[in-house]
Amino acid sequence: MQNSQVNTSLPLNLSSGIAERKPGEFWQLGDRAVRRIGFGTKRLAGRDLGGADLQERAVALLRRAVELGVNHLDTAAFYPSHGKAGETSFESLDWANDVIRRALAPYPEDLVIATKVGPTNDGLARPDQLPALVERDLRALGVDALDLVNLRQHGLTSIAEHFGVLAELQAKGMIRHLGVSNVRVPLLQEALEIAPVVAVQNRYSVGFGRTNDEILGVCGELGIAFVPFFALAAASREAGGVADSKAVQEIADRHGATAAQIRLAWTLSRGPHVLAIPGTSSQKHLEENLMAGDITLSPADLATLDAIVD
Ligand SMILES: NC(=O)c1ccc[n+]([C@@H]2O[C@H](COP(=O)([O-])OP(=O)(O)OC[C@H]3O[C@@H](n4cnc5c(N)ncnc54)[C@H](OP(=O)(O)O)[C@@H]3O)[C@@H](O)[C@H]2O)c1
Repeated sequence: MQNSQVNTSLPLNLSSGIAERKPGEFWQLGDRAVRRIGFGTKRLAGRDLGGADLQERAVALLRRAVELGVNHLDTAAFYPSHGKAGETSFESLDWANDVIRRALAPYPEDLVIATKVGPTNDGLARPDQLPALVERDLRALGVDALDLVNLRQHGLTSIAEHFGVLAELQAKGMIRHLGVSNVRVPLLQEALEIAPVVAVQNRYSVGFGRTNDEILGVCGELGIAFVPFFALAAASREAGGVADSKAVQEIADRHGATAAQIRLAWTLSRGPHVLAIPGTSSQKHLEENLMAGDITLSPADLATLDAIVD
């Protein structure tokens, strides 16, 4: 992350074994090597948005994540989401971004903070509204340039106008890298004709059919990161939690692992360019999720997991 000031020392003691480099653990996201297991901030506040020390707990959780070697955060001005099951609020409260800044600025040099713009409570932002959303993220995170901005589209048949605006902001130095979210191959191709794309962020999980297999493969061929969301929550999506599946639990029991770890291990098995951004409000879950990279699923496990339909 590029700070307004130069970061001369890491704010945290990176002493954990998890921070050691292991083969296949990293992916080159633009100009930075990120660990393939990152952290999504949508669930940073958990299911209960009350509690006086909520922000302090979120600050501690983010610091612990970085201490354990996480160097890829996925966030948005409208995180954490305040929706009930099946609903999402896209109100820009900057809560998660404020917590990130408080917890981690001045940012470690290797930290990549990905944001997303597009959704608002009045529907998808118009192209002319995007610069203000990017400026808002710059202010909230306290940086001169955003590492990675995903255009999170919904319902467009062409993203050229929207993506073109983000490419202009990139040319002005406000954004380092661009990504797209919630797209199929034709919209990715359209974006690529305008500017380089380093990441595609789509829904993808054990049990979610195989609708995103094509774009996942195209990303692999083009050296673009594929970054699934709802890799754990699966069918329950906004409601959160880890999707319930007897078959996943059986595999987990055999590995002495949890269902969440098996779902993440499967995610990582889909290709070296596939990153994980599990969202959690819990330090125990954070640590558990980071250890999922150590699980090797057998061909039989993978065949079982591939065949699950939620
Ligand atoms: N581009 C987009 O449109 C889009 C949409 C949605 C999300 N996202 C991004 O993707 C990230 C991941 O999605 P998500 O956070 O919505 O869902 P997720 O990672 O699939 O699942 C999160 C849920 O799983 C629980 N959980 C996490 N680790 C666990 C563990 N080890 N054991 C048991 N439960 C566990 C969390 O609750 P606890 O707090 O109890 O751990 C939370 O309820 C988000 O944080 C966000 O950054 C992007």
